[in-house]
Amino acid sequence: MEQYVIKGGLPLVGEVEIGGAKNAALAILAAAIMTDETVTIDNLPNVRDTNVLLDAIAGIGAKVDRVDSHTVKINGSYIDCLCVDYESMKKIRASYYLLGALLGKYKQAEVALPGGCNIGSRPMDLHIKGFKALGAKVEIKGGAVSAKAEHLEGTHIYLDKVSVGATINILMAAAMADGKTTIENAAKEPHVVDVANFLNSMGANIRGAGTDVIRITGVEKLHKAEYSIIPDQIEAGTFMFAAAATHGDVLVKNVIPKHLEATTAKLLEAGCRIEEFDDAVHVVAQGSLENTQVTTLPYPGFPTDMQPQMAVVLGIAHGTSTVTESIFENRFKYVDELTRMGADIKVESNIAIINGVQQYTGARVSAPDLRAGAALVIAGLAAEGITVIDDIHFIERGYEEFPAKLREIGAQIEKVATEKEIQKFTLKVS
Ligand code: EPZ
Repeated sequence: MEQYVIKGGLPLVGEVEIGGAKNAALAILAAAIMTDETVTIDNLPNVRDTNVLLDAIAGIGAKVDRVDSHTVKINGSYIDCLCVDYESMKKIRASYYLLGALLGKYKQAEVALPGGCNIGSRPMDLHIKGFKALGAKVEIKGGAVSAKAEHLEGTHIYLDKVSVGATINILMAAAMADGKTTIENAAKEPHVVDVANFLNSMGANIRGAGTDVIRITGVEKLHKAEYSIIPDQIEAGTFMFAAAATHGDVLVKNVIPKHLEATTAKLLEAGCRIEEFDDAVHVVAQGSLENTQVTTLPYPGFPTDMQPQMAVVLGIAHGTSTVTESIFENRFKYVDELTRMGADIKVESNIAIINGVQQYTGARVSAPDLRAGAALVIAGLAAEGITVIDDIHFIERGYEEFPAKLREIGAQIEKVATEKEIQKFTLKVS
């Protein structure tokens, strides 16, 4: 079983380059099958989730050519199956984007229902509500969602909850429906905008992405396109929090600062100095860290995907902080692990009450999910002593070359596979 081993206590100093956004890439890869022409996508993050989804896309017959580790060509004209099996869904929830893409293009699709996930139940009721509103007959049977329609008719859809997945899935189905569709209370995340821009580059007619009302005029066909994925705001924020927790000085490059406004605001409140450039953010955290209050909200609020990372920083800040998780019902699983590193955190319902401690101490911990795993890496970098992190496959779902990028800015971290390698690392850094 592979692990990360970290010797903490060193400030991160230097420059790091951010990759393409995983959560934009997953939707864009699915949308790419909606044309029978070839689509070229670059600045793709080379992470487990995108590679698993590309396998699922090849699995339904589409032609997938990996030009290099960050560029792929997809041609949907070879698709010979309109169902995505449970194996694919089990590995990556976002395979459900193929439901919207296949329904939009072929007016038929069947996708295994995604299993639960470590951060909450992750229902699909809003996705299904949208497909039904467009005229599809949707059934859940045998653990799969099947959707079918003679034709899809544009309509007005109000999302009871702000949902990134439902907004994007409905957007894709409506892009090739007859007539106009309005999605109200739509998600405004940068990756929703990126998917809309991508579909428009293929000839779709989508207006208002990034606001809470998106208007789509369906088109008959979509055509070839070349597209570059936006930078990953969550990877960028993760490095910003790592700089803060280690009292470092890091220039985070290839970012869109506007996408990081909530993160920047909270790091300023926590006592960091932040300088913004056109495509970079400079985080300096050589002073002490101060307490603050955070509530996760849909974009442009503070992202739920940065909640664990923020909590790790506040865990070694002066005073008492609170972190309120308003999006998912089970996103504090890292707290038990962090407590083993000396944190003083109490979770009451969806609020974590954090009493800052002087410093974390290294320990053996397990990554409970993707972002919590990244947060434990940050805790290990800030801790005194050695930290070993198990279940790093969660982390590798969304962070490309994470240890290598951290070593570039001074971290002592390695990916190991045996106790012997842990001992070797410990000897080397002591
Ligand atoms: C996307 O998940 C992201 N995943 C998540 O990132 C992210 O945390 C989440 O958006 C919120 O920003 C991808 O983009 C692949 P939602 P998604 O639908 O679309 C409820 C990561 O770390 N809901 O916006 O599944 C849901 O239970 C991952 O990269 C319904 O009730 O999230 C949640 O409480 C983790 N019914 C809320 O809406 C539905 O039909 C927001 O979920 C759909 C969602």
